[in-house]
Amino acid sequence: MSSAPDAGRSILIVGASRGLGHAMSAEFADRGWSVVGTVRSAGTALHGLAARRPGQVSVETLDIDAPDQIAALRDRLADRRFDMVFVNSGVADEGRPATIGEIATDAFVRIMVTNALGAMRAVEQLGELAAPDGVIGVMSSGQGSLANNKGGGSDVYRASKAALNQLMNSYAARHADGKRALILLAPGWIRTELGGPNAPVGMEEAIPQVVDVLVAQLGTPGLRYLDRSGKTVPW
Ligand SMILES: NC(=O)c1ccc[n+]([C@@H]2O[C@H](COP(=O)([O-])OP(=O)(O)OC[C@H]3O[C@@H](n4cnc5c(N)ncnc54)[C@H](OP(=O)(O)O)[C@@H]3O)[C@@H](O)[C@H]2O)c1
Repeated sequence: MSSAPDAGRSILIVGASRGLGHAMSAEFADRGWSVVGTVRSAGTALHGLAARRPGQVSVETLDIDAPDQIAALRDRLADRRFDMVFVNSGVADEGRPATIGEIATDAFVRIMVTNALGAMRAVEQLGELAAPDGVIGVMSSGQGSLANNKGGGSDVYRASKAALNQLMNSYAARHADGKRALILLAPGWIRTELGGPNAPVGMEEAIPQVVDVLVAQLGTPGLRYLDRSGKTVPW
């Protein structure tokens, strides 16, 4: 996009070093948004984007597996209010399709802690930084759908995203009087390190759609589980 129709808007994207989170950061920046993205290490693609867009894109450090780091980031950004807070970070179960009977306990814990517990800790603490009528979004997956699971496979990844969906549902129930949009996004199978080379869609096609769907949620309160065309995913 060459124009900047949303200039003045701002987003905090957790997990923006590479892949979908980085591509979303670039897309929001292209649309004129101010972007704060988080990374875990130096020299990421987000650092490159921030260097090309000084004053518009900035980098913070956060590992969502570390609750003290989430609290510290919330404190550092306490004076900011974002139109959108989006938690993108996630990990896959390496060696897919591992079944629940095959997976090692430490691998199960790692996936669940990052995809469900860490993501929701970030929502609980950093969601406060979203404007009262803003959007709090989390990167879920179509694989988190119970209704659509007809084939199995990637058992623990699926379970971690289903847990994320359920935890977000609890969050929404506790904030039923709130005016924020609460979005679980299922972006589709996309070529990234996590998605792998066989995914049918590239980021250049998928990310503008993802961003369109998120922007369209501004001003409409409540919980929704949406794909990148804006359709509801069966829970
Ligand atoms: N690609 C797909 O087909 C697809 C489909 C459905 C859903 N998703 C979801 O989309 C999200 C992004 O996936 P992707 O395909 O872009 O994967 P990716 O290329 O592997 O990127 C994963 C991102 O998550 C970050 N991350 C992982 N663990 C973290 C932690 N403990 N704390 C903070 N950040 C952490 C990574 O940071 P580092 O660089 O520091 O590791 C990286 O920025 C994930 O939640 C994934 O489950 C992806």
